[in-house]
Amino acid sequence: VIPAFIEAHFSNRSNPFDPATNPTGYIGLCVAENKLMWDVLAPQMAARREVPFGATGYDDSIGSEAFRASVARLLSRRVTRRPIDPTTVATLAGAGAILETLFYALCEPGEGVLVPTPSYSGFWADLEGRDGQVIVPVHLPSTTGFAFDTALLDEAVSAAGRPVRALLFTSPDNPLGRVHPAETIDRVLDWCETKRVHAVFDEVYALSVFGDVAFTSVAERRPTLGDMVHLVWAFSKDFAVSGLRAGVLVTENPDVLAAVRAQGMWSMISGDTQWLLGRLVDDDAWVDRYLAEMRHRLAASYRAAAGALDGIGVPYLASDAGFFLLCDLRRFLDGSGWDAEDRLWARMMGEAGVNLTPGAACRVGEPGFFRLCFAAQPVAAVEEAVSRIGRLLVSSSSREP
Ligand SMILES: Cc1ncc(COP(=O)(O)O)c(C=O)c1O
Repeated sequence: VIPAFIEAHFSNRSNPFDPATNPTGYIGLCVAENKLMWDVLAPQMAARREVPFGATGYDDSIGSEAFRASVARLLSRRVTRRPIDPTTVATLAGAGAILETLFYALCEPGEGVLVPTPSYSGFWADLEGRDGQVIVPVHLPSTTGFAFDTALLDEAVSAAGRPVRALLFTSPDNPLGRVHPAETIDRVLDWCETKRVHAVFDEVYALSVFGDVAFTSVAERRPTLGDMVHLVWAFSKDFAVSGLRAGVLVTENPDVLAAVRAQGMWSMISGDTQWLLGRLVDDDAWVDRYLAEMRHRLAASYRAAAGALDGIGVPYLASDAGFFLLCDLRRFLDGSGWDAEDRLWARMMGEAGVNLTPGAACRVGEPGFFRLCFAAQPVAAVEEAVSRIGRLLVSSSSREP
């Protein structure tokens, strides 16, 4: 089932906001995309557009040897900060395809997978769709600012009512935009080792860090990943090419890699795309310049969005990474249930033409939180969206007794 906010996004995209030509147009801030980098990317891609004969034929389902070597080199240099062996790397059409295929290999239908929530909404489709696994949510409470604690994992396992085979842990986090510090990664690893469950680290925002907390990859915390720790990354976010479909798995478990290779036949990355992305990331000097500029722009957009929210008096959780802010609109709900959140989303969409991701989609434990993706639009559009929300909600609520 396609959620209402996604349906609304696709059906309104033909009426986009433009400050000069369409000032009342639609502003979609509900999809986790970085749309701020195209002027930097476009000339680089155009310069690498040749298609060599070798890229037009069948190749290894998990990526050509050359592409996997390029990806391993990029990860070693910029993400894991220790050498990644290319033979432990698999690439498929997006992090979603990697997760779906990986979990198909790791768990049986009906088995539980722990996911701390709030979380990325797509995990449910990835794991519960074809794979038939059951996500066991680990609800982080709003009262602690959604702080993570391994004691919550124990509680979730006790309440799961089914065997738990794996934990899926996202850092930097979506939707909290939070970088988990090294101590948390260590605690998660220790917990998974003790319980003998697979630990899958989703690090698709590893390089989209703009705040003061440095990113720590799981691969930095152990000299080897072993058989039960797996790392997921993608080009979608950090290289702002979500539509090119390129995701990455690092696993040292030969059986898992073999299973992913067998199942990967149906979600391979086109040879053309592998060639293009491989050439792009082989250019170390360009990658370093690109990442510095991306962080600079993310920080500027974050500051603009946060400043605009401050200006209308809407609280939010501060972020260090990713493309989002989680806004706290609980005081604007007209009731206490999830239907009140639906109504607030519908008002913002219908009356202000602004689409935020409702907290229900991110599996927040209580109604009233909305994810605002500040990288999905230019700064002017984000500021316009927040000011419309302000006019719609803040001014109308201040008139209430
Ligand atoms: C945490 C997380 N994992 C995975 C994905 C899926 O990425 P892809 O577009 O590469 O399939 C997303 C996309 O929003 C995400 O936020």
